Amino acid sequence: MPRVWEHPEHCAGRWRVILACSDSPPNPAVHQKLTLELGCGTGLWTVGMAEKFNDGWWIGADIKGARMWHGAKVLESKGLSNAGFLRTRLEQIESYFESGEVNEIWITFPDPQPRESREKKRLSSPAFLRRYRNILTPDGCLHLKTDNISLFEYTVEAWQAEGLHIERCIRDVHSPEHVAQRNPYEQDALSVITTYESRYMVQNLPIHYVKGRFL
Ligand SMILES: C[S@@+](CC[C@H](N)C(=O)[O-])C[C@H]1O[C@@H](n2cnc3c(N)ncnc32)[C@H](O)[C@@H]1O
Repeated sequence: MPRVWEHPEHCAGRWRVILACSDSPPNPAVHQKLTLELGCGTGLWTVGMAEKFNDGWWIGADIKGARMWHGAKVLESKGLSNAGFLRTRLEQIESYFESGEVNEIWITFPDPQPRESREKKRLSSPAFLRRYRNILTPDGCLHLKTDNISLFEYTVEAWQAEGLHIERCIRDVHSPEHVAQRNPYEQDALSVITTYESRYMVQNLPIHYVKGRFL
């Protein structure tokens, strides 16, 4: 698939150039914001954001190629060239990005991994936070959306314990009360719905959102 990179070599520090070098970049400027969606699944959130914010670069990362194929097909059909997909295990994320290369990370509906023995597999755990800190800009931030209240509470606690400043912490983020309080970026970003999220919303399950920033 065009715009899908599987376990690529020599990409760290070069993502803006790599993405821009493909057909007709909308804007080849290399300084623009780069956002990563981790555990992107079908990648439809990455595609939706790339469409809304064509002045930034968007990468969805996941190990499941068959899922990201869907997003890659939509990218291709829409002719979007400010986004792409990285197929890898997220445990290896530091091999693919240079220190300070990423401005924002979104973790969308990660597997809750409820067993204590699997804590290190949770994408919002301290083990992963250390990896994220290494690739984010010093003022970079992390966002997480989940339907799972236990994972949400675990995440807020773990991020605070690891020294992140919690800028937003919203239970039931799609409730009319919270929708009315969104700033313009949140309005756009939170209204792009992932594949799992749409399943939960059909069941009327509340969605929770947290944003943290390394201090
Ligand atoms: C519950 S799905 C959510 C998919 C998508 N974000 C959504 O909301 O529709 C979680 C995704 O995280 C991916 N994932 C979980 N742990 C991973 C890891 N260590 N490395 C790469 N992908 C991982 C899975 O392959 C899966 O596609």
